[in-house]
Amino acid sequence: MADSFQDLLEQRLSRRQVLNGAAALIPLAAAPALFTSDPVAAATRNTLRFAAIDRSRDDVVLPDGYTYDLVARWGDSLFTGTPDIDMAMLAEGGLLKSGIAEQQTRQFGQNCDAIRYFPLDSRGKRGLLCVNHEYTSDELMFASHDGFDAKKGAIRGYIEKHPQVVPVTQAAQGVSVIEIALGRDGWRLVKDSRFNRRITAHTPAEIRGPARGTSLVRTKGDPTGTRVFGTFAGCAGGETPWGTYLSAEENIQDYFGNLRRLKEMPDVDPFVIDAHRRFRMRQESAYGWDVTDPRFDLVNEPCEPFRFGWIVEIDPRDPQRPPVKRTALGRFAHEGAGTVVAKSGHVAVYMGDDDKFEHIYKFVTSGRFDKDDLAANRDLLDAGALYVARFDADGTGRWLPMVFDSRGPLNERAGFRHQGDVVIKARAAATVLGATPMDRPEDMEVNPVTGRIYVSCTNNAERTALPVTKMYAGREVEAGPDAANPRGKNPWGHIIEIHENDDDHTSLEFRWEVFILAGDPRGKLITDIKDVRPGIDRNSAYFAGYANAADLSPIGSPDNLGFDPDGNLWVVTDGPQPRNDNNGCWVCPTTGPDRGRLRQFMSGPIGAEICGCQFTPDGETFFLSIQHPGEGGSVLKPRSHWPDGPGTQPRSSVIAVRKKGGGRVGT
Ligand code: FEO
Ligand code: CA
Ligand code: CA
Repeated sequence: MADSFQDLLEQRLSRRQVLNGAAALIPLAAAPALFTSDPVAAATRNTLRFAAIDRSRDDVVLPDGYTYDLVARWGDSLFTGTPDIDMAMLAEGGLLKSGIAEQQTRQFGQNCDAIRYFPLDSRGKRGLLCVNHEYTSDELMFASHDGFDAKKGAIRGYIEKHPQVVPVTQAAQGVSVIEIALGRDGWRLVKDSRFNRRITAHTPAEIRGPARGTSLVRTKGDPTGTRVFGTFAGCAGGETPWGTYLSAEENIQDYFGNLRRLKEMPDVDPFVIDAHRRFRMRQESAYGWDVTDPRFDLVNEPCEPFRFGWIVEIDPRDPQRPPVKRTALGRFAHEGAGTVVAKSGHVAVYMGDDDKFEHIYKFVTSGRFDKDDLAANRDLLDAGALYVARFDADGTGRWLPMVFDSRGPLNERAGFRHQGDVVIKARAAATVLGATPMDRPEDMEVNPVTGRIYVSCTNNAERTALPVTKMYAGREVEAGPDAANPRGKNPWGHIIEIHENDDDHTSLEFRWEVFILAGDPRGKLITDIKDVRPGIDRNSAYFAGYANAADLSPIGSPDNLGFDPDGNLWVVTDGPQPRNDNNGCWVCPTTGPDRGRLRQFMSGPIGAEICGCQFTPDGETFFLSIQHPGEGGSVLKPRSHWPDGPGTQPRSSVIAVRKKGGGRVGT
């Protein structure tokens, strides 16, 4: 029985050798199919022809022959009646003036993340862009704001002094739907489009699925548990086959405060306190919304957080239709929602839960996708089966069904009274079922060419090098390495490839492997079993067995993922890089002899994470979100002047990368 990455690699290598009748160990580069004994490794041409960029610490860098358009910046107005944010006024407290919050509800939000493009014409020159706004960098908005790492109580003090901050940051979050058009000067936002729309932390939204109306989602503000105000903390997302946008509510715990006082209340319901355990609610919120808005004060509304942490579905073509929280897909720190229509017509959604030692999920609809009547799919995400993944050390895995059953593991004794509790407390249910705790699973995407599923595990400083049992977020975890999380600590993260049995996305069983162990290829590049026998550490790196270090670029902290029409995997990053460089964008083939040949395509501005990672259907435009450029600085001490140039404040923006003279990006 294999119980580590090394054992797994060794088993596969020896199995391969038996198959080949070979006596000696085979270098991986000589046998690219070593990990994949199936047709996906059959030779396919590498379509990626760009000249990889050098690592960089400057502003946006692209390969020779590429350019980018600035599509939408934080504060760009969507409507002619509303001015753009006056960035020159930030240092004088411009955002503290009256009327700013109202204006922000009609301007592009801050800290853009997941992007999806919905074409409006067949020529690829007009479309709708849905973009969520993950959080606000208040220190890059308000003069003399110190940021969230300020000493305890500092945020509360700032908000008490400037209560007008809260409506501004609540309006700068959520989702923007904008029409964009490609003209002679590139992609531009179309002001006053009838589709232009802002969804903020106040926009009425509907709760549907098994949690709807159940006790944990009922509040003073909504005794029916069916209607919630707004969405925020949206991170990597997705789209449905019927043309709607999925925003993934992630770090919702940062917006609520007063947990300690709630616990001290004499009439507090222990069931509610227990349900908060895995989301790490706290006394001091990160953003201070609870200081002025009682909805975010846990003593006032102990159940408000259960109304967040969902996948939110938005119809970009119908501005009147409220966003819908699809509770059947579970509640956790959602990150990514990779959808695919299975051979049977059922729709599968793959989702990560980005926290240390949390899990990987799949949802499969009960109903089938109707391609001839898109409206008939409208509520397909309300009924189906939710699963959580267990990764076994022999390279197989199982999707464990998360079903309330008084005779099954998810019963009353385990803390679940009905399916509503199972989806609200999905993390606790996953633990009961024995799901594998992962190294912060971020985006999950399905390769449109091969059907394989990729998940980035961004990093995990709490993963230990030796087997240790420790407490984390209110429960015991086995913190040492396992086959699917092979490195402790895991400073640079990894990417796992999942292959559903029989290529069936409704399957309960799958095979998997570590596709990329991020790091510096000029460190200990793993290409052969002898490279892993001594163990793996922070200097180890593995690129699906690709062996020529000179062809590979260092990478750390993979986050959002994307695919071009050829099925190449695009990866953007958020976090530490092996050589201390800026975050950026990388790409590699997933099939053929160049499988795993990962090269850097783009480098972002100082302080930014890169998100988005979305192509137009023709592959000629590649959208990226440049989130929090200048992080680490402040309004009074800016660290970056991207995108507007010297003397200006940095601002998060969506860019459209194109090849000068046209053609598919990357080719
Ligand atoms: Fe918002 Fe997990 O990145
Ligand atoms: Ca992310
Ligand atoms: Ca991240």
